[in-house]
Amino acid sequence: MASHSERAGAGIDWDARYVAGDTPWDKGAAHPALLARLKTLPITGRVLVPGCGAGHDVRAIAAEGAAFVLALDVAPSALNLARSFPKAGNECYQEGDFLTGNAVPPGSFDVLFEHTCLCAIPPERRADYVRAAATALRDGGLLLAVFFTKPENPNLDSPPFRCDLAEMTLLFSKPLRCHAAGIAL
Ligand SMILES: C[S@@+](CC[C@H](N)C(=O)[O-])C[C@H]1O[C@@H](n2cnc3c(N)ncnc32)[C@H](O)[C@@H]1O
Repeated sequence: MASHSERAGAGIDWDARYVAGDTPWDKGAAHPALLARLKTLPITGRVLVPGCGAGHDVRAIAAEGAAFVLALDVAPSALNLARSFPKAGNECYQEGDFLTGNAVPPGSFDVLFEHTCLCAIPPERRADYVRAAATALRDGGLLLAVFFTKPENPNLDSPPFRCDLAEMTLLFSKPLRCHAAGIAL
């Protein structure tokens, strides 16, 4: 029988990956593009980070003075790991399936920061992700994303699923106003 986190993770047992330490996406630090952005333009207000994993990005955002950062993940072991780090600011970790669209109160976030969460979700569930993002953000809210745009994963049945930038712009442009930017690192 599928575990709770396996069902919530759209067929992937994310918790088992964290338990096994099989987390090659975790670089032990916030993404460099996020750190660069925070240096020039702080991320303020109420921030949502779906698929937060160990929370490196969460703490970087919280440390730079966001009023509140809610970090969401389906994997309890990821959240335990995230909570084991010293608090950086006003961040909080919560277990939940972002795709349901009701994991967080609607319209309550100024910013949604995404870092390789969408690429972890089967492409057929992307519309659910977009709906959940548009619901969580207030009118005029900002989606900041680090998408996985590299096509080198040859396995089309398992993540990471490629998130082509032009495709992402199209995907999000219905409910949100989109300005896409690519950064090569
Ligand atoms: C590739 S990892 C990225 C983790 C983190 N953002 C990072 O960059 O280290 C994808 C994360 O999304 C989480 N996840 C997958 N499906 C989810 C869902 N439906 N709702 C919330 N989190 C989800 C997984 O448990 C995992 O922690």
